[in-house]
Amino acid sequence: MRIPFIDLQRQYQSIKAEIDEAINEVFAASRFIGGSTVAEFENQFAACVGMPHCISTGNGTDALFVILKALNLPAGSEVIVPAWGCIATAEPVSLAGLKPVFCDVDPIYYTLTPEAVEQKITPNTKAVIAVHLYGQAAPVTELKSLCNRHTIFLIEDCAQAHLSEEKRGIIAGTVGVAAAFSFYPTKNLGAYGDAGCVLTRDAQLAERMRRLANHGALHKDDHVLEGTNSRMDALQAAVLLVKLRYLAQWNKRRTEIAAHYANALAGISSLVLPACRPGTVHTFHIYCVRTAHRDELKKFLNAQGIETSIHYPLGLSFTPAYRHLAHTPAQFPVTNALQQEVLSLPVFPELTNEEVTGVCSTILDFFSPAGK
Ligand SMILES: Cc1ncc(COP(=O)(O)O)c(C=O)c1O
Repeated sequence: MRIPFIDLQRQYQSIKAEIDEAINEVFAASRFIGGSTVAEFENQFAACVGMPHCISTGNGTDALFVILKALNLPAGSEVIVPAWGCIATAEPVSLAGLKPVFCDVDPIYYTLTPEAVEQKITPNTKAVIAVHLYGQAAPVTELKSLCNRHTIFLIEDCAQAHLSEEKRGIIAGTVGVAAAFSFYPTKNLGAYGDAGCVLTRDAQLAERMRRLANHGALHKDDHVLEGTNSRMDALQAAVLLVKLRYLAQWNKRRTEIAAHYANALAGISSLVLPACRPGTVHTFHIYCVRTAHRDELKKFLNAQGIETSIHYPLGLSFTPAYRHLAHTPAQFPVTNALQQEVLSLPVFPELTNEEVTGVCSTILDFFSPAGK
């Protein structure tokens, strides 16, 4: 038995005719950057999430960078980011000349909480980036109220949460001043290369972000400010337009797989399964379990041909890139525990029920004989 952590080839095969046709149309038109295919994707993605403005970018990291630059925050301002997550949330803060301030996360849902964020707010804090991690929506409505009280911006990082819902009907990316999405190939909505976008309700901010992503210009040679080169290419937009048709159905399949894992693994006392915040819709970009026996379990599964991954081996507060901040485990107890215990099981729409059953029975085998 070999069960991959993710298999993008299976997904391509399932939609090959549509993808090939869409790509051939781009070749035929030979408009490779921007153009009508990219504009069509922006329109359809904005409509799908229910937002008026979508600005495509080269990737999700740039999407955050463009938002931060567009907000024009004073140099050196503090931006609160989760200590637990992907470095791509923190990097753009520093790249924009601002200071990332790490905040520990909720021990159950692994996202920021208003209480923890409030403790990190100083007179120099100008923004908070809430990450909807693993597909679990962060409590952005409450975070927004907190940010409003302190007159700071709330930015949403939706790279792992396409169509997650923070409360029924409140889709991730619709609450903050702007939201960044990644379409990295393995995401729930993934391109065939790098791609990203920003969503916002603010027309002026939208225009500024569109300029920033395209050398400060809306039209050829109209450089009213300095920006960067971060544009979506038409091939990626064509792929994303095809895949957008399937996003809801693929998210549903991820949820079914998560339910299958939850049913089969619920009885293992030393294995913590992902909790879903009541009233939210989780889209299971990652199915993250926790156990004190993480490394042994990973090795055991690997020996049986089952691939797993670790999101993340180190919390951001302890990552070498931020060593200069001299953070200690005691400052980030949840992050410190998570980095030793988390394990991501395979979850992708094309995973078969037999494979999910195979993963579950192997995990049950691991825990039962040793009575772990
Ligand atoms: C939470 C989070 N934020 C931002 C990003 C950055 O996206 P990209 O890889 O498209 O730059 C990622 C992607 O891995 C992510 O998982």
